Amino acid sequence: MRKICVVGVGYVGLVTGTCFADLGHQVICVDVDETKIARLRQGIMPIYEPGLEEMVRRNAQANRLDFTTSYEEGLAEAEFAFIAVGTPQGSGGEADLQYVRSAAERIAQAMVQPLIIVNKSTVPIGTGDWVADIVRRHQKQPMEFWVVSNPEFLREGSAISDFMYPDRIVLGSLDAEAAAQVAQLYLSLRAPIMITDLRTAEMIKYASNAFLATRISFINEISSICEALGADVKEVAIGMGYDKRIGPHFLDAGIGYGGSCFPKDVQALAHMAAVHGCHPQLLRAVMDINRDQRRQVVHKLRELLGTLDEKVIGILGLAFKPNTDDMRESPAIEVIHLLQSEGAIIRAYDPVAMVNADIYLHDVTLCQDVYKVAEGADALVIITDWNEFKHLSLSKIKEAMRRPIMVDGRNIYDPQVMRNLGFVYRGVGRGYSD
Ligand SMILES: NC(=O)c1ccc[n+]([C@@H]2O[C@H](COP(=O)([O-])OP(=O)(O)OC[C@H]3O[C@@H](n4cnc5c(N)ncnc54)[C@H](O)[C@@H]3O)[C@@H](O)[C@H]2O)c1
Repeated sequence: MRKICVVGVGYVGLVTGTCFADLGHQVICVDVDETKIARLRQGIMPIYEPGLEEMVRRNAQANRLDFTTSYEEGLAEAEFAFIAVGTPQGSGGEADLQYVRSAAERIAQAMVQPLIIVNKSTVPIGTGDWVADIVRRHQKQPMEFWVVSNPEFLREGSAISDFMYPDRIVLGSLDAEAAAQVAQLYLSLRAPIMITDLRTAEMIKYASNAFLATRISFINEISSICEALGADVKEVAIGMGYDKRIGPHFLDAGIGYGGSCFPKDVQALAHMAAVHGCHPQLLRAVMDINRDQRRQVVHKLRELLGTLDEKVIGILGLAFKPNTDDMRESPAIEVIHLLQSEGAIIRAYDPVAMVNADIYLHDVTLCQDVYKVAEGADALVIITDWNEFKHLSLSKIKEAMRRPIMVDGRNIYDPQVMRNLGFVYRGVGRGYSD
């Protein structure tokens, strides 16, 4: 059993802390958000993540997991401090490191014994060295510490199983012994552990996210060509995916990637590259295609409805992907804003993300289910591929709508089936011909 302090209880920090506690370690999580901490102490989750609430309660009851706003309390006995604060996009496309800076300063001021500081936040290449410098400058008295990079690869919606069954653990440090100590924390997961230098570990995270985003933009570009030439991109992706060199994952054409990671990470990598004299043309194309993909939805609606002014558009799904309430950079936001700018009236439903709708949207009627969204709608748009959208009573929906138009941004439905039911249906790259 090791003593761990996790700084930041967002999607990554809370899952990391809770899972380490579940593995038997003694964990205390620190956050500057007093409301979040107070609620967590009462067992109330700040986010929706399947399985998390039960795991937090169980480990808190077993006294392996605690929450505080005090760095002093969090670091009193800690051997490890994991930094898991946000690194949002800055105004110029760079990663905004203000929260990492503040966490590093406060760790330095509060540490009372030698400490391994582990960067779990996604941070630009070179941040590990920068954090070490900050800690050195802000310590009250010189005390030994080591910085290790341990980028996180979990996905919201399946974060707990991603933590418990990772494809790999990446550790980067200039000190082999510090990296080995962090590796010990993960040993029971029996996952491959790769130990490398700090900068390489930081780069592995960005390169991985950029590659996954590239696959999505690649298949989206293929989808546009399919649409123009009458091929079905869903079948194309299946045919490609059987090739072991290609594989089936991240080849779903649709409305494009969103969320709190891919958009900002691709942007930050392109920014880093440009600042250092490189020409990140592939990354730029990936971002351009992704932006166009969202606009295509609006274009299709305009084409089908003539004008969007005063048209009632029903939006199915607000979260950037299923099984999360996270709306950061969700395609829903841009699509709704574009529709509203052309005068459309928006009704929407999401199984869990509606709690966050007020932060990003205005003048949207939130409905209690899909069928209420459909009432009087001129068109429906599927934005998030929640399971519950895959088995709808389509005849009931058609009856409730003013016009039976569906733009399926996730290719959930079969174009032929939809046509047979009397819908005017547009998927993404499905080679339709009506
Ligand atoms: N969300 C994901 O799916 C995911 C996956 C892999 C990696 N990441 C990376 O992990 C990092 C965290 O992402 P997230 O989605 O969990 O962020 P988040 O915004 O959900 O949570 C960040 C938390 O840090 C807290 N915080 C900010 N400054 C603080 C400080 N000085 N001291 C203590 N707490 C502080 C905030 O109050 C908040 O609770 C980011 O770098 C992100 O890119 C995220």
